[in-house]
Amino acid sequence: MFVDVHAHLDDKAFDGDREQVLENIRAAGMLVVTAGSDVETSRFSVELARKYDFVYACVGVHPHEAGKAPKDYLEELKELAKDPKVLAIGEIGLDYYYEFSERRIQQKVFLEQLELAESLNLPVIIHDREAHQDTLDIIKKSGISRGLMHCYSGSVELAQEYIKLGFYFSLGGAITFKNAKKPKESAARLPLERILLETDCPYLTPEPFRGRRNDPTN
Ligand code: NI
Repeated sequence: MFVDVHAHLDDKAFDGDREQVLENIRAAGMLVVTAGSDVETSRFSVELARKYDFVYACVGVHPHEAGKAPKDYLEELKELAKDPKVLAIGEIGLDYYYEFSERRIQQKVFLEQLELAESLNLPVIIHDREAHQDTLDIIKKSGISRGLMHCYSGSVELAQEYIKLGFYFSLGGAITFKNAKKPKESAARLPLERILLETDCPYLTPEPFRGRRNDPTN
Protein backbone atom coordinates (compact mmCIF):
# COMPACT_ATOMS: atom_id res chain seq x y z
CA MET A 1 0.00 0.00 0.00
CA PHE A 2 1.27 3.48 -0.90
CA VAL A 3 1.16 6.32 1.62
CA ASP A 4 1.53 9.93 0.51
CA VAL A 5 2.97 11.38 3.72
CA HIS A 6 2.69 15.01 2.66
CA ALA A 7 -0.15 16.54 0.68
CA HIS A 8 -2.18 19.75 0.78
CA LEU A 9 -5.70 18.56 0.03
CA ASP A 10 -7.04 21.79 1.53
CA ASP A 11 -5.43 23.79 -1.29
CA LYS A 12 -7.75 25.94 -3.40
CA ALA A 13 -6.42 24.11 -6.47
CA PHE A 14 -8.74 21.27 -5.35
CA ASP A 15 -11.80 23.43 -4.68
CA GLY A 16 -13.46 22.54 -7.98
CA ASP A 17 -13.21 18.75 -7.71
CA ARG A 18 -11.93 17.78 -4.25
CA GLU A 19 -14.48 14.99 -3.79
CA GLN A 20 -13.47 13.43 -7.09
CA VAL A 21 -9.77 13.64 -6.17
CA LEU A 22 -10.59 11.93 -2.86
CA GLU A 23 -12.56 9.21 -4.64
CA ASN A 24 -9.56 8.61 -6.92
CA ILE A 25 -7.34 8.25 -3.86
CA ARG A 26 -9.79 5.77 -2.37
CA ALA A 27 -9.89 3.82 -5.64
CA ALA A 28 -6.07 3.71 -5.68
CA GLY A 29 -6.19 2.04 -2.25
CA MET A 30 -3.75 4.46 -0.68
CA LEU A 31 -3.46 6.54 2.48
CA VAL A 32 -2.77 10.29 2.50
CA VAL A 33 -1.47 12.59 5.22
CA THR A 34 -2.68 16.13 4.53
CA ALA A 35 -0.92 19.05 6.21
CA GLY A 36 -2.26 22.39 7.36
CA SER A 37 -0.43 25.66 6.68
CA ASP A 38 -2.24 27.86 9.20
CA VAL A 39 -4.98 27.47 11.82
CA GLU A 40 -7.80 27.55 9.29
CA THR A 41 -6.31 25.01 6.87
CA SER A 42 -5.27 22.82 9.81
CA ARG A 43 -8.89 22.73 10.93
CA PHE A 44 -9.98 21.91 7.38
CA SER A 45 -7.41 19.08 7.23
CA VAL A 46 -8.76 17.57 10.44
CA GLU A 47 -12.30 17.78 9.06
CA LEU A 48 -11.20 15.91 5.92
CA ALA A 49 -9.54 13.25 8.06
CA ARG A 50 -12.75 12.82 10.07
CA LYS A 51 -14.75 12.41 6.89
CA TYR A 52 -12.46 10.04 4.96
CA ASP A 53 -10.99 6.97 6.64
CA PHE A 54 -7.92 6.93 4.33
CA VAL A 55 -6.99 10.55 5.15
CA TYR A 56 -4.85 11.59 8.15
CA ALA A 57 -3.94 15.12 9.17
CA CYS A 58 -1.12 17.30 10.44
CA VAL A 59 -1.73 20.66 12.06
CA GLY A 60 0.68 23.58 12.01
CA VAL A 61 1.61 27.05 10.84
CA HIS A 62 3.88 27.16 7.76
CA PRO A 63 6.76 29.68 7.77
CA HIS A 64 5.02 31.65 4.99
CA GLU A 65 2.08 32.20 7.38
CA ALA A 66 4.12 32.71 10.56
CA GLY A 67 3.78 36.51 10.45
CA LYS A 68 -0.01 36.22 10.31
CA ALA A 69 -0.44 33.63 13.07
CA PRO A 70 -3.12 34.72 15.57
CA LYS A 71 -2.04 35.23 19.19
CA ASP A 72 -3.79 32.05 20.34
CA TYR A 73 -2.57 29.83 17.47
CA LEU A 74 -0.76 27.40 19.80
CA GLU A 75 -3.96 26.83 21.80
CA GLU A 76 -5.89 26.25 18.58
CA LEU A 77 -3.34 23.74 17.28
CA LYS A 78 -3.25 21.97 20.64
CA GLU A 79 -7.01 21.59 20.58
CA LEU A 80 -7.00 20.26 16.99
CA ALA A 81 -4.17 17.84 17.80
CA LYS A 82 -6.48 16.05 20.24
CA ASP A 83 -8.13 14.34 17.28
CA PRO A 84 -6.74 10.79 17.05
CA LYS A 85 -6.27 11.20 13.28
CA VAL A 86 -3.75 14.01 13.76
CA LEU A 87 -0.37 12.33 13.31
CA ALA A 88 2.07 15.22 13.56
CA ILE A 89 2.65 18.95 13.93
CA GLY A 90 3.29 20.37 10.45
CA GLU A 91 4.00 21.81 8.14
CA ILE A 92 6.39 23.98 10.12
CA GLY A 93 9.89 25.30 9.54
CA LEU A 94 11.87 28.09 7.92
CA ASP A 95 11.81 29.57 4.43
CA TYR A 96 14.59 32.06 3.69
CA TYR A 97 14.05 31.76 -0.06
CA TYR A 98 10.67 33.51 -0.20
CA GLU A 99 10.92 35.04 3.28
CA PHE A 100 7.21 35.93 3.31
CA SER A 101 7.47 36.28 7.10
CA GLU A 102 10.33 38.00 8.90
CA ARG A 103 13.08 35.53 9.81
CA ARG A 104 12.90 36.39 13.51
CA ILE A 105 9.13 35.65 13.54
CA GLN A 106 9.61 32.44 11.54
CA GLN A 107 12.18 31.22 14.06
CA LYS A 108 9.95 32.02 17.04
CA VAL A 109 6.85 30.34 15.59
CA PHE A 110 8.94 27.33 14.49
CA LEU A 111 10.46 26.79 17.93
CA GLU A 112 7.11 27.22 19.69
CA GLN A 113 5.55 24.55 17.50
CA LEU A 114 8.47 22.15 17.97
CA GLU A 115 7.99 22.55 21.71
CA LEU A 116 4.26 21.96 21.32
CA ALA A 117 4.96 18.73 19.39
CA GLU A 118 7.40 17.62 22.06
CA SER A 119 4.86 18.31 24.82
CA LEU A 120 2.17 16.34 22.93
CA ASN A 121 4.57 13.53 22.08
CA LEU A 122 3.94 14.00 18.34
CA PRO A 123 6.47 14.01 15.49
CA VAL A 124 6.96 17.04 13.21
CA ILE A 125 6.86 17.71 9.46
CA ILE A 126 9.63 20.15 8.53
CA HIS A 127 9.87 22.64 5.66
CA ASP A 128 13.43 23.94 5.21
CA ARG A 129 14.15 26.14 2.22
CA GLU A 130 17.59 27.75 2.14
CA ALA A 131 17.64 27.80 5.94
CA HIS A 132 19.60 24.60 6.61
CA GLN A 133 21.75 25.73 9.53
CA ASP A 134 19.05 27.60 11.45
CA THR A 135 16.57 24.74 10.93
CA LEU A 136 19.01 22.23 12.37
CA ASP A 137 19.99 24.52 15.27
CA ILE A 138 16.38 25.21 16.28
CA ILE A 139 15.42 21.52 16.03
CA LYS A 140 18.37 20.63 18.27
CA LYS A 141 17.42 23.36 20.72
CA SER A 142 13.83 22.06 20.93
CA GLY A 143 14.86 18.53 21.91
CA ILE A 144 12.42 16.98 19.41
CA SER A 145 13.48 13.51 18.37
CA ARG A 146 11.02 12.36 15.68
CA GLY A 147 10.07 13.91 12.39
CA LEU A 148 10.10 14.14 8.64
CA MET A 149 12.25 16.44 6.52
CA HIS A 150 9.71 17.07 3.79
CA CYS A 151 10.87 17.79 0.24
CA TYR A 152 14.40 17.35 1.52
CA SER A 153 16.88 19.52 -0.38
CA GLY A 154 19.93 19.40 1.90
CA SER A 155 23.13 17.44 1.46
CA VAL A 156 23.67 13.78 2.34
CA GLU A 157 26.09 14.98 5.06
CA LEU A 158 23.38 17.12 6.68
CA ALA A 159 20.99 14.19 6.40
CA GLN A 160 23.34 12.18 8.62
CA GLU A 161 22.77 14.77 11.36
CA TYR A 162 19.02 14.32 11.02
CA ILE A 163 19.28 10.54 11.05
CA LYS A 164 21.09 10.83 14.40
CA LEU A 165 18.16 12.95 15.62
CA GLY A 166 15.64 10.26 14.57
CA PHE A 167 14.36 11.92 11.40
CA TYR A 168 13.02 10.58 8.09
CA PHE A 169 13.09 12.12 4.61
CA SER A 170 10.76 12.55 1.68
CA LEU A 171 11.93 13.89 -1.66
CA GLY A 172 8.79 14.42 -3.72
CA GLY A 173 8.40 15.06 -7.43
CA ALA A 174 11.63 17.08 -7.58
CA ILE A 175 13.46 13.77 -7.80
CA THR A 176 12.17 13.40 -11.38
CA PHE A 177 13.49 16.83 -12.46
CA LYS A 178 16.59 16.84 -14.64
CA ASN A 179 18.43 19.48 -12.59
CA ALA A 180 17.61 18.00 -9.15
CA LYS A 181 21.12 16.98 -8.18
CA LYS A 182 20.79 16.87 -4.39
CA PRO A 183 17.49 14.92 -4.18
CA LYS A 184 18.84 12.29 -6.57
CA GLU A 185 22.01 11.99 -4.52
CA SER A 186 19.96 11.68 -1.32
CA ALA A 187 17.78 8.98 -2.88
CA ALA A 188 20.86 7.04 -3.93
CA ARG A 189 22.76 7.30 -0.65
CA LEU A 190 20.28 7.52 2.23
CA PRO A 191 19.10 4.30 3.90
CA LEU A 192 15.94 3.14 2.13
CA GLU A 193 14.12 2.64 5.45
CA ARG A 194 14.55 6.38 6.12
CA ILE A 195 12.84 7.48 2.90
CA LEU A 196 9.07 8.04 2.74
CA LEU A 197 6.91 9.00 -0.26
CA GLU A 198 5.27 12.37 -0.69
CA THR A 199 3.72 14.48 -3.44
CA ASP A 200 3.40 17.89 -1.71
CA CYS A 201 0.42 18.22 -4.04
CA PRO A 202 -0.86 20.38 -5.64
CA TYR A 203 2.79 21.44 -6.01
CA LEU A 204 5.86 19.68 -7.43
CA THR A 205 4.16 17.56 -10.07
CA PRO A 206 6.58 14.82 -11.17
CA GLU A 207 7.68 14.24 -14.75
CA PRO A 208 6.09 13.46 -17.17
CA PHE A 209 3.09 15.38 -15.77
CA ARG A 210 5.00 18.56 -14.91
CA GLY A 211 2.97 21.72 -15.52
CA ARG A 212 -0.28 20.06 -14.42
CA ARG A 213 -1.78 20.01 -10.91
CA ASN A 214 -0.24 17.32 -8.74
CA ASP A 215 -2.33 14.87 -6.70
CA PRO A 216 -1.57 11.88 -4.45
CA THR A 217 -2.21 9.26 -7.13
CA ASN A 218 0.91 10.49 -8.95
NI1 NI B 1 4.06 21.16 1.78
